[in-house]
Amino acid sequence: MSQHITITGGAGFLGSHLCDHLVAQGHDVLCVDNYFTGQRANIRQLLGNSHFEVLRHDVTFPLYVETDQIYNLACPASPIHYQFDPVQTTKTSVHGAINMLGLAKRVKARILQASTSEVYGDPEVHPQVEEYWGRVNPIGPRSCYDEGKRCAETLFFDYQRQHDLDIKVVRIFNTYGPRMAENDGRVVSNFIVQALKGEDITVYGDGTQTRSFCYVDDMIEGFVAMMATEKGFTGPLNLGNPGEYTIGELAETIVSMCGTRSRVVYHPLPQDDPRQRCPDITLAREKLGWEPKVQLHDGLKETIEYFRRLAD
Ligand SMILES: NC(=O)c1ccc[n+]([C@@H]2O[C@H](COP(=O)([O-])OP(=O)(O)OC[C@H]3O[C@@H](n4cnc5c(N)ncnc54)[C@H](O)[C@@H]3O)[C@@H](O)[C@H]2O)c1
Repeated sequence: MSQHITITGGAGFLGSHLCDHLVAQGHDVLCVDNYFTGQRANIRQLLGNSHFEVLRHDVTFPLYVETDQIYNLACPASPIHYQFDPVQTTKTSVHGAINMLGLAKRVKARILQASTSEVYGDPEVHPQVEEYWGRVNPIGPRSCYDEGKRCAETLFFDYQRQHDLDIKVVRIFNTYGPRMAENDGRVVSNFIVQALKGEDITVYGDGTQTRSFCYVDDMIEGFVAMMATEKGFTGPLNLGNPGEYTIGELAETIVSMCGTRSRVVYHPLPQDDPRQRCPDITLAREKLGWEPKVQLHDGLKETIEYFRRLAD
């Protein structure tokens, strides 16, 4: 059945793919974004579609619309962007959650929060299961993001306990694909942009730290499957790709796929950068029947093509 769906952060990387997906499914989508890190170009293909509407709005202010479902994705996601104005980052997560939960309460909408693997901080448990409470520095340069997202989760669960709200919380692990911002310092986009320009590939640390990489299409299917679960299944639920790669391996793969002569150079690791991050997705497999399908090589191919087109 066609629903009215609100997506905050809808002009961003993940949000714009979610808009595409839900409009294609026949839903009426309202994209809410203040364009801090999102871009109109990401949603250009939907402008003019009668099932799609855009509202320039900052989620730190209340929003009054009619809606059946809310995906709350608004928040800068890369360290460069979330550390640019850390106070605003915390406000976006915390005030944004309060405002969107308030909206969900008023109109009795189901609401999904885009949380993050960063709530686990620099984990002592590997791979990370949802029961793990995390190891987060509350006063460091990454705290505005990590603690903001943790507080947003707290608000979601308090609204559920106090007001019986129909909530869903997903913890997103590193996701990549077309429409990642070009200069946001995230590892996949960084490496691809550097490789396509034939520049040195900068690896922070010795390159042995591992990460998992989930392709955007898999992630969007996970969001939608989570939204469709029965009331009362709240999560938190990990979504990500459990395949682990070292950063050094990723750099080498991208250099070879881009066919350039870039060298891989090593720089000191930034503060609080986790050594290892990998999701345990047992719960997502059990509850959603979901697991990532796109192989790293195939996802990288699409992403490299996107950045090549941008450069043309
Ligand atoms: N991409 C990942 O690997 C990843 C990992 C973990 C969590 N997440 C979460 O997923 C969500 C989307 O991430 P993304 O990668 O698409 O990032 P993104 O920066 O591309 O998208 C975020 C969007 O939110 C918008 N926004 C920021 N502050 C806002 C505000 N105050 N009001 C309205 N809009 C605002 C931005 O303009 C942008 O369009 C974020 O909440 C992020 O924390 C992403």
